[in-house]
Amino acid sequence: MNNRVEQVRQEALQAIAQASGLEELQQVRNTYLSKKGAVQELMSLMRNLSREEKPAFGQLVNACKDAVTKALEEKQAELGKAAMNARLASEKLDITVPGDRFEIGTVHPLMLMQREIEDLFIGMGYKVAEGPEVELDHYNFELANIPKDHPARDMQDTFYIDPNTLLRTHTTAMQMRELEKAEGKTPIKLICPGKVYRRDDDDATHSHQFMQVEGLVVGENVTLADLKGTLTYMADTIFGGGRKVRFRPSYFPFTEPSVEVDVSCPFCNGKGCSVCKGSGWIEILGAGMVHPHVLEMNGFDSEKCSGFAFGVGLERVTMLKYGIDDIRNFYTNDMRFLKIFDRYD
Ligand code: DAH
Repeated sequence: MNNRVEQVRQEALQAIAQASGLEELQQVRNTYLSKKGAVQELMSLMRNLSREEKPAFGQLVNACKDAVTKALEEKQAELGKAAMNARLASEKLDITVPGDRFEIGTVHPLMLMQREIEDLFIGMGYKVAEGPEVELDHYNFELANIPKDHPARDMQDTFYIDPNTLLRTHTTAMQMRELEKAEGKTPIKLICPGKVYRRDDDDATHSHQFMQVEGLVVGENVTLADLKGTLTYMADTIFGGGRKVRFRPSYFPFTEPSVEVDVSCPFCNGKGCSVCKGSGWIEILGAGMVHPHVLEMNGFDSEKCSGFAFGVGLERVTMLKYGIDDIRNFYTNDMRFLKIFDRYD
């Protein structure tokens, strides 16, 4: 029986020595030290011994158990250290490796211009309104004094969704929404920036989707002179001081009188150059006094109040300000183009 103890001890120590990982070591521990393990089995042999023999045998088995326990602990410490070293080696961080470069975006030039225009009008006490791009015919045309059979509908090739719903062709639709919302109460001072859509073929100066900023002021004694002063201030802020503003008679169904507005060319200061085609003037927007019929349709008394309105193409002024010659640059996401505007943000 003593031999059996020695045999178990040797086997256990050998298995411990050979264990190559913590899991394997745990199995060895189970095999030898668990309740049904080999060492416990040795203990159970005691019942076959005489009273005199028992203590000596018990000591022997205990010594065996101690030896195995000690060997297990040592091996466990050794394997634990090795596992930790392996983990440290695999997770080693080389702080000298250069980091990944992130492409930092820039503010889109149209957004730069939108913000600039918003800032300058907010500074004059205007509010900024926004509205739906999918619009009702009612706001885009009817309330803007463009009924179904009106020839002005041909001026704007429209994307219709159904006979009453369309992609708005101008931010003037928002002007109508705001007029209606005001329920005849003045004063109104707002701008409305946003996307608009027309069935145009895209080329260097046309895009089926572009941006406008609408302006609207309604109150007592609002005159064409107020419009001129306001637009001169806007032109000065966008293109630099000293711009002159010129009105040319024009036609829009929702304004009377209607004007087309030119600014003195910021590139040659009005002397004549290739940008202004020698004229010294550049057309930037359409405007006018809100048509009395539009005021009346929206619940205002056109005897008591008057208003001016304008609609400026955001791409157009941005192209003029930064000397951009192709509108498609705004929509083709070429980083080389967009990065130029880093410095203006
Ligand atoms: N809605 C016009 C267009 O898209 C621009 C415009 C002209 C807006 C005169 C106005 C205005 O508010 O008064 O061509």
